[in-house]
Amino acid sequence: MTLDDVKLIQLPKFLDERGNLSFFENENQIPFSIKRSYWIYDVPGGEMRGGHAYKSLQEFIVALSGSFDVVLDDGRDRKTFSLNRSYYGLYIPRLIWRQLENFSTNALALIVSDQVYSAEDYIYDYEEFSKRKEG
Ligand code: TYD
Repeated sequence: MTLDDVKLIQLPKFLDERGNLSFFENENQIPFSIKRSYWIYDVPGGEMRGGHAYKSLQEFIVALSGSFDVVLDDGRDRKTFSLNRSYYGLYIPRLIWRQLENFSTNALALIVSDQVYSAEDYIYDYEEFSKRKEG
């Protein structure tokens, strides 16, 4: 997997005077079936989340509120995606190093993934990640 496999996906949006609506569904807007949803919120200024890769998990991240940056690294290149609209989401395949940072006040990050939580799927050591990418 490389940064070329990462996709910023625009979601459907229904603009309405009563308020707007966006959505995503399994394997329509996103290329996997959702097994888990979680969200990150109340992040103090200057804090970072993530700082790891997943061995096999794929995920999709939406800034439901506020903004934050997703910094991605495939072992060769590094790219930052700034998420600040609730009708865009970032698809991240497995084996991409990822860190969330620069959270605005009231930022709300929704993350859905194709696997339930498993500590064994995490790679916390960047050296180990690099070796896997080479191998
Ligand atoms: P972690 O994935 O390390 O957070 P981040 O990558 O955003 O910095 O998770 C923090 C803690 O929450 C860790 O103890 C595991 C737990 N956790 C779950 O129990 N279920 C989950 O779905 C997630 C994402 C984390």
